Amino acid sequence: MLIDKFGRTIDYLRISVTDRCNLRCYYCIPKGYKDFEAPDDWLSFDEVMRIIRIFVKLGTRRFRLTGGEPLIRKNLTELIGSIKQIKEIEDLSLTTNGTLLTTYAEPLFKAGLNRLNISLDSLNRKNIEEITGNDCLRQVIDGLLAVKYVGFQKIKVNMVVLPDKNLNEIDYMLQFCIQQGFILCLIEVMPIGETGQHTTKILLQPLIHKLEKKFHLQPTTKLIGNGPARYWETSLGKVCLGLITPLSQHFCETCNRVRLSVDGILYMCLGQDNCFALKPLLRNHGSDEQLKHAIKKAVELKPKQHDFIQQPKKIKRIMSKTGG
Ligand code: 5AD
Ligand code: SF4
Repeated sequence: MLIDKFGRTIDYLRISVTDRCNLRCYYCIPKGYKDFEAPDDWLSFDEVMRIIRIFVKLGTRRFRLTGGEPLIRKNLTELIGSIKQIKEIEDLSLTTNGTLLTTYAEPLFKAGLNRLNISLDSLNRKNIEEITGNDCLRQVIDGLLAVKYVGFQKIKVNMVVLPDKNLNEIDYMLQFCIQQGFILCLIEVMPIGETGQHTTKILLQPLIHKLEKKFHLQPTTKLIGNGPARYWETSLGKVCLGLITPLSQHFCETCNRVRLSVDGILYMCLGQDNCFALKPLLRNHGSDEQLKHAIKKAVELKPKQHDFIQQPKKIKRIMSKTGG
């Protein structure tokens, strides 16, 4: 087991398979950004598999693939198939912007992917174009319907709440998600990279009362994911809403995760710089034992908490680099 110096068990690894994306959400990747990792520096899927196997030996049972947009990385479904061959793995999920899901819904389901989080900040075509830089609402909706159709369950819709863009759409988004059987996850903007830092923020905690009333929601402790979200269910007992509140109510005491970037750096926290580069060991014939030791050492570097409120300018790397 991996246990950090604050006694937290680390049993969840999020892997960014690319820092690139086919969208440009204004709170994430800066316009004209060119500092993407070069292909030579990307971990190969063999290297990713090796790290996953070592994490499994260290007790990790839950993994997520993320990015950037993971589905733009070639042969991602094959990687998913290989990960799912490891019998100890209990949960493999994917975070995607949904634009490519009409093509990949079925292969992903067949490869054994367990769960999906799909980013969708608005149901208004013009808003989506303004937020993502692309006129892609139809594509994403079709993608959502496709994953539902092929049989995925507990599909989550991630909505980053932007006061000047989509705040007034929360009710409508929730109504849509309840109708479709999706779980709407509302997310507070984190000050990550210049883009995240320049984006206007709103605290979500104060909104919940109104939503509870309007939609007859009850808090629930039903376990839906591996993460920090708190959930609400409808009067029929169906979970439909999650809140991710890194700013208004942080959840660092129960943090269970570390993140692997596409260039093989293990980040200990989204909101801190503590990290450990695994690629040199991978590429210089490091043994499994050495890698195991390095991962344990890295976990010792895990900080107690982020400082998003106290030091909102601290994190220079953009979200798609660490993996959302
Ligand atoms: N703060 C909060 N969420 C963010 N995402 C990207 N950048 C930020 C940010 N600065 C979200 C995406 C996606 C998930 C991976 O992270 O919208 O849903
Ligand atoms: Fe791409 Fe997701 Fe970043 Fe938007 S938030 S630019 S979809 S990685």
